Amino acid sequence: MARVLSGIQPSGDLHLGNYFGAVRNWVSDQERTDAFFCVVDLHALTQSLDPEDLRRQSLDLACVLLAAGIDPEKCTLFLQSHVPSHQQLAWILECSATFGELKRMTQFKDKAGDQEAVRVGLFTYPVLMAADILLYDANEVPVGDDQRQHLELTREIANRFNNRYGQTFVVPTATIPKVGARVMDLQHPERKMSKSVNSPLGTIGILDKPVEIEKKIKKAVTDNDGIVSFDVEAKPGLANLLTLFGACLGEDPEEISKRYERYGDLKKDVAEALIESLRPLQERYQTFSADIPEVLRILHHGALKAREVAEVTYQRAADAVGLVSEA
Ligand code: TRP
Repeated sequence: MARVLSGIQPSGDLHLGNYFGAVRNWVSDQERTDAFFCVVDLHALTQSLDPEDLRRQSLDLACVLLAAGIDPEKCTLFLQSHVPSHQQLAWILECSATFGELKRMTQFKDKAGDQEAVRVGLFTYPVLMAADILLYDANEVPVGDDQRQHLELTREIANRFNNRYGQTFVVPTATIPKVGARVMDLQHPERKMSKSVNSPLGTIGILDKPVEIEKKIKKAVTDNDGIVSFDVEAKPGLANLLTLFGACLGEDPEEISKRYERYGDLKKDVAEALIESLRPLQERYQTFSADIPEVLRILHHGALKAREVAEVTYQRAADAVGLVSEA
């Protein structure tokens, strides 16, 4: 059975892009693979977050994932910081990765920008990510397009390590989800829906209330030629609405477009489909967030399962590089 690992940062409320592009695929991955899903709280430390916000957001994300259908009976859900091997392996891998390699990471360049005080953790972020993946002998890593380069680096580090020290790590492949919809900003349909860009009307949170969803869909940017058709290049706003609709119904957006003549009718039905798709998740979210002790128990159980796998791999890597194992 394939082993899957993926991670998600607790850096704010999840939106439809995260949901249709990632989380919903995880829910199907857990049916077919041995899946590990990790809330990467250590990665979130690379941003300046208030400690209480980090704590709250980490637990909140766990609630959302559980509400979305991540099932602790079918996969392993845990917090990265609960498994110390991630940090331990990251150091060993830092001693394999090179400065030049990390300097070329486009995400680092974007995030560091011209900041005066760039955190070292932001620089070594991709090595910690490599540790997340390699610890679980993952062969599939479902990630968005923006993480492709980090995955390439992970493969590079794994191969180099295996060549230098002998076969230790499984070399993973990125699986960019087939059915994953690429969700664009509702106000700027030429760019991805993103939590890091301030676009409150362009972003629908998966916990948004029905009235907010209606409002945002109603105000979504389209065009004014008045013809409903699925054309990502010429009609990106409309295509985005059709993509969302398709993701809700599990139908081809182009087929859906044939059933509509007026933008207003389409928008009304898109809003309704989104509200209905999110309703069960939002209800379950209420249940989980009202019982944090239960969520903590689930995460503890996940951490126990994750540690069992991760510690074995860490030991293999520590032995390979010549660290003396404890008597
Ligand atoms: N860097 C990823 C992102 O921002 C999150 C992440 C951390 C991750 N560790 C991972 C994703 C391991 C996949 C596998 O989306």
